[in-house]
Amino acid sequence: MQNIIVTGGAGFIGSNFVHHVIAERPDWHVTVLDKLTYAGNRANLEGLPADRLTFVHGDIADAEVVDSLVAKANAVVHYAAESHNDNSLQNPRPFIDTNLTGTYTLLEAVRRHDVRFHHISTDEVYGDLQLDDPARFTEHTPYNPSSPYSSTKAGSDLLVRAWVRSFGVRATISNCSNNYGPYQHIEKFIPRQITNVLSGIRPKLYGAGLNVRDWIHTNDHSSAVLKVLEEGRIGETYLIGADGEQNNKTVVELILELMGKDPHDYDHVNDRPGHDLRYAIDSTKLRTELGWQPKFTDFRTGLADTIAWYSEHESWWTAQKAAVEAQYAKAGQ
Ligand code: NAD
Ligand code: DAU
Repeated sequence: MQNIIVTGGAGFIGSNFVHHVIAERPDWHVTVLDKLTYAGNRANLEGLPADRLTFVHGDIADAEVVDSLVAKANAVVHYAAESHNDNSLQNPRPFIDTNLTGTYTLLEAVRRHDVRFHHISTDEVYGDLQLDDPARFTEHTPYNPSSPYSSTKAGSDLLVRAWVRSFGVRATISNCSNNYGPYQHIEKFIPRQITNVLSGIRPKLYGAGLNVRDWIHTNDHSSAVLKVLEEGRIGETYLIGADGEQNNKTVVELILELMGKDPHDYDHVNDRPGHDLRYAIDSTKLRTELGWQPKFTDFRTGLADTIAWYSEHESWWTAQKAAVEAQYAKAGQ
């Protein structure tokens, strides 16, 4: 029996991982530690068996709460973060508190109790690639983050590496590309555009929309993280990606087409300051060393399923829609 803590387990990717683990590992118990910020939602964990899931409402930067939970755990899978680049440009402070101080607090607890730690990170720590560059990020690409968000994620990765080397903490790191799927907050690109169309608002594309993201279905991210947690080599970093490069313009037009609208019926709005051009992941290490393969590689089908999920779960997002759009409107986005 494994007793694992999932930080940020009420957020988008964390909650999808909790669903995955409960389904795939019938003898594991999951404790979710989540602060329930604007991005956390207990409804994301509805329907899971109460005897296999404990929910703790708390902050990863609260050393007392963290210590008492880690003392009883076999492993920590650390998803909790402030995750949105645009928010980090408006107010970086919570990104420092959660992504840096929160990760430090967890590392000190797993060090004290010698508990296995897996750190969830992002491809954004590597900065960006040129649109016409055939290169992709590998585990050897130098760190070069652009935004307050990605720089705090880069800092948290470096803390993990230092705690491995200096204190012998048993940790691994994974850096994943852009996730999509159910339960993603509607501030993010894909759900924002889907819920715009459902609300009668024209989709909003930053700048010319030529920026490229490497999309992976969140279920594939979950299977990769479980693989690294169980079979990854301590101290190692694994990049997670599913060869899903698309530019933003193509994605908006596909959403409109799949929703039965004119594919050109969208607005170009102000670009994001410092907007990273392109991300692309080479996940050869994960695939060859641990034998992982993505399963949800048909982007059109995955997007259609995601559109269906937001259409069928309007009560999950409608209450937040006006405030999210008002916030974007202030930045001309
Ligand atoms: P999210 O914003 O949807 O969820 C974050 C969760 O963390 C929320 O439930 C929130 O309440 C919780 N949280 C925030 N601060 C906390 C704190 N101080 N203490 C406890 N809980 C706190 O984020 P997401 O998109 O699901 O991302 C999860 C993780 O995956 C992050 O570490 C992010 O950097 C990483 N990641 C995200 C993507 C992506 O495409 N979304 C890709 C690669 C990596
Ligand atoms: O690459 C992994 C990262 O992916 C994660 O680390 C982050 O947590 C996650 O939020 C995501 O970051 P991005 O900045 O790439 O995601 P976002 O959904 O904010 O934007 C995706 C692209 O779409 C980006 O190029 C900006 C653009 N965009 C975004 C919004 C919200 C638009 O064109 N219009 C929009 O309305």
